[in-house]
Amino acid sequence: MTKKLYIETVGCQMNLLDSEMVVAALRRQGYELTDSTDDADTILFNTCSVRQHAEDKIYSALGRLRATKQAHPDKVIGVLGCMAQKDQKTIFDRAPYVDLVVGPGQLQQVPELIEQAREKPGQYVALSLDRKAGNLDAIRRSHEYFDPLRDPTMRPTPFQAYLRIQIGCDKFCTYCIVPMTRGPEQGRPPEQLIAEARVLADQGCKEITLLGQTVNSYRHVDGGRTTRLSDLLAQLHEIDGIERLKFVTNYPKDMTDDLLQAVRDLKKVSHYLHVPAQSGSDDVLKRMKRGYTVADYDEMMARIRETIPEASVSSDFIVGFCGETEEEFALTVEMVERHRFKNSFIFKYSERPGTTAAKLRPDDVPEEVKKRRNNDLLAVQNRISEEDNRPFLGRKVEVLVEGPSKLSLKQDDQSEVLQLTGRTMCDRIVVFEGNRRLIGQTLPIAIVDYTPFTLHGSVVTRHVHGITAGAV
Ligand code: 5AD
Ligand code: SF4
Repeated sequence: MTKKLYIETVGCQMNLLDSEMVVAALRRQGYELTDSTDDADTILFNTCSVRQHAEDKIYSALGRLRATKQAHPDKVIGVLGCMAQKDQKTIFDRAPYVDLVVGPGQLQQVPELIEQAREKPGQYVALSLDRKAGNLDAIRRSHEYFDPLRDPTMRPTPFQAYLRIQIGCDKFCTYCIVPMTRGPEQGRPPEQLIAEARVLADQGCKEITLLGQTVNSYRHVDGGRTTRLSDLLAQLHEIDGIERLKFVTNYPKDMTDDLLQAVRDLKKVSHYLHVPAQSGSDDVLKRMKRGYTVADYDEMMARIRETIPEASVSSDFIVGFCGETEEEFALTVEMVERHRFKNSFIFKYSERPGTTAAKLRPDDVPEEVKKRRNNDLLAVQNRISEEDNRPFLGRKVEVLVEGPSKLSLKQDDQSEVLQLTGRTMCDRIVVFEGNRRLIGQTLPIAIVDYTPFTLHGSVVTRHVHGITAGAV
């Protein structure tokens, strides 16, 4: 009999990839996916701890399952990922009917733990070692991973995949929980990564996004040989079938010239760099312990603009960090104006118990002030994004077609010809009318309109695999 799995994922791309791995492992055990918790006999939440809001969402979802579990005690409920690692047994305090709590480094144990919980009800916990647990090698090993398992149906699309090149983070920014939940930074061996990328290419994958918390700090030392991200990109570039390579997220201090030159020279590498600045104030950066100054960031941006003039750069900002004054916030606005990011992800500071900031500094910026600064910064960024899209009018861009657009999905459009979406080499979203059969193709699209977030275009007529693209 097939077993039914419901899985909900919150958080970053790392989590999406983790869920892909868990689903792959469970499919091998005969599981099928369902999108209803009523039908499921196993319910998993892959969780995020970066902000309180993400945790609240999971506790509400768990709360809604209380009655379900009472009525069907045989349903197995599991909490996986960062929240499991961080909150550990407190999850059982708030939701005692949870059967499994499994950290991001222990996901390979999920199938076995589900079986155990089904045979012998109880509370099963599998976590990585705490960062203070002593022996670094043992801590590292406890965060190691089972990446080669893959489930193509869980990918963003059949021709796009994530590849984890790095585990953990050693930067210890004072606001951030990730070094605690994902453990020490480790670069995976390049041979493993190349082999995994080859498998992906053989499965028809055209675009690979390399993942790491600070992906450009990637380093693997084997005897006397050191592999950096630029070296890895050059090796991945050789793989037939791969058309595009992206990498996220970057750490400003490690944006070295060899990497920028690799992005410039390797034609499959996307000219898109996501390099979170977090703040435009030196004092705030110091309190965040980001390890660079505004001048360092500006210098890095100058090198990016000089080496790859057409690159699009995006950033993350935290507003309302401990003690942030109006003057300090104004410096962040100035930074966004100065660098004209393609887009910025803006977050209100959320205190995370266990971090240095939570221990040392009061979360003293009122919520309304955080909200206002968030809105103000977003308004500036949106204006810039819109202005930056204007020059694309009338230009032709190469788009990898990802699938139906959000609008088509919302309207559940089943037609052959519908609104599609895709991305340019510099990660700009393009929507256009086209035939479903174009999905997965890389096509020239002429841009006819724009908004801050999207370019609108139409297919430039040419013959693509037996259909005339322009005549759709
Ligand atoms: N509060 C708000 N935002 C945070 N981020 C990380 N930790 C926190 C926090 N405690 C943001 C940073 C990071 C992004 C992934 O999430 O901007 O780059
Ligand atoms: Fe968190 Fe800083 Fe590491 Fe990014 S670099 S994951 S913000 S500690």
